[in-house]
This record gives sequence, C-alpha cells and structure tokens, in this order.
Amino acid sequence: MIIKDAIYIGSYVDLAQLPEGVEPEIALLGRSNVGKSSLINKAVRRKNLAKSSSTPGKTRTINYYLINKSWYLVDLPGYGYAKVSKKERQSWGKMIENYLLKRDKLRGVVLLLDIRHPPQASDKAMKAWLEHNNIPLMLVATKADKISRSARGKHLHTISKELGLSSADMLFCFSAVTGEGIEEIKAAWQEVLND
Ligand code: GTP
Ligand code: MG
Repeated sequence: MIIKDAIYIGSYVDLAQLPEGVEPEIALLGRSNVGKSSLINKAVRRKNLAKSSSTPGKTRTINYYLINKSWYLVDLPGYGYAKVSKKERQSWGKMIENYLLKRDKLRGVVLLLDIRHPPQASDKAMKAWLEHNNIPLMLVATKADKISRSARGKHLHTISKELGLSSADMLFCFSAVTGEGIEEIKAAWQEVLND
C-alpha cells in the first residue's frame, strides 16, 4: 500500500458526531503510551500528523485521519491509564466499546502491545472481547528498537503464548524509530480493506 495522502479530519467524544459516508475504517487500540499515534505518523510518513507524547493519556478523543481520500485510520484513546479518575475511565471504556460494537464501517482493529512487556490483564481482556465480538484483529508489538535483536524471538513468543495466538493470527514487530515492520502492516491493512 502506498499512502499518498493523509488528512486529519477531526477529534470526537460523541459517537453521534463521527464522520458520515461510506469509507471503511481501521482502528488502533492499545494501552496508553504504547505507540498508537507514532504508528500512524510512521505509516503516513509525517512527523506530527497524530499528536504523540511521552505523557500517557495524550489521546483522549477518537481521532480520524482520511487516507488516500478513501479510508480512515482511527486513533482511539489508550486504555489502562492509571492517572485518570475511575469515572472518567469507565466513560472512555463505554465510548470505545460502543464504537467497536456499533460502527458498521469498521473493518478491523490493530491491537498494539509494547514488545518489552508481557501482555497485561487489560490487553488479554481486550483481545478476548474483540474475538468474542467477531471483530477482525491484527497485533503489533511496538518499540522493537528498544530490545536487542537476539531477545526479540523470546519476547514475541511470550506475547503469543500469553494471548493464546495461533498461527492464523497476525503478529507484527514494529518500530516507529527505524520504520521496521511498517510495510508489512500496511500490506495487511490493504488486505483488510480489500476483503
Ligand atoms: P496515548 O495517546 O497516550 O494513548 O499514547 P500512544 O499510544 O498514542 O503513544 P505515542 O505514539 O504518543 O507514543 C508514546 C511514547 O512512546 C512517545 O514518547 C513516543 O516517542 C514513544 N514511542 C512510540 N513508538 C516508539 C518506538 O517504536 N520506539 C521508541 N523508542 N519509542 C517509541
Ligand atoms: Mg496517542
């Protein structure tokens, strides 16, 4: 997939406000700070299209990016961010859940995990919930530049085992620093959109 054009469309807190139209969409999901916004920037080759930050919880809205004038990449708020009130966390959870269940143009979800750490309870719950609801899923292990090449296999194996992945599941290794993995991820998006 060649991305020639990427436009920020808007940020939403209310599902009723989301863009109308027929364009399909792919959403990025993962714990706060895992690298969702950085993946978008790498995919579209722009430094700051999606705001990324070392402060967890930066993305608190559903953000839409129109790609090649034909489909949307959707940046969802990160889950598992401790420093927000329980009430706020529940309302985000509800919003994300409603989005994932009701958005009929959603073609698939990219679930991001930090390659350095075993999946946490919230990651496992999210993966199980997506499967239960038959939402097509691909997994991306982020920040691959932060561990040595020799340690990589072991970390990917832990992720696979903890999430109960099978050979049919897609698990990509990605670094926003080196760009490793981005072409494979984009090719997978193309397939999801073609289906
Ligand atoms: P929220 O919006 O808070 O949910 O976070 P996010 O998932 O969008 O994460 P974001 O892309 O903002 O990245 C968080 C931090 O991790 C930033 O400081 C990034 O520079 C850093 N980061 C993201 N991806 C990588 C990567 O592949 N390698 C390295 N070394 N750092 C990364
Ligand atoms: Mg973000």
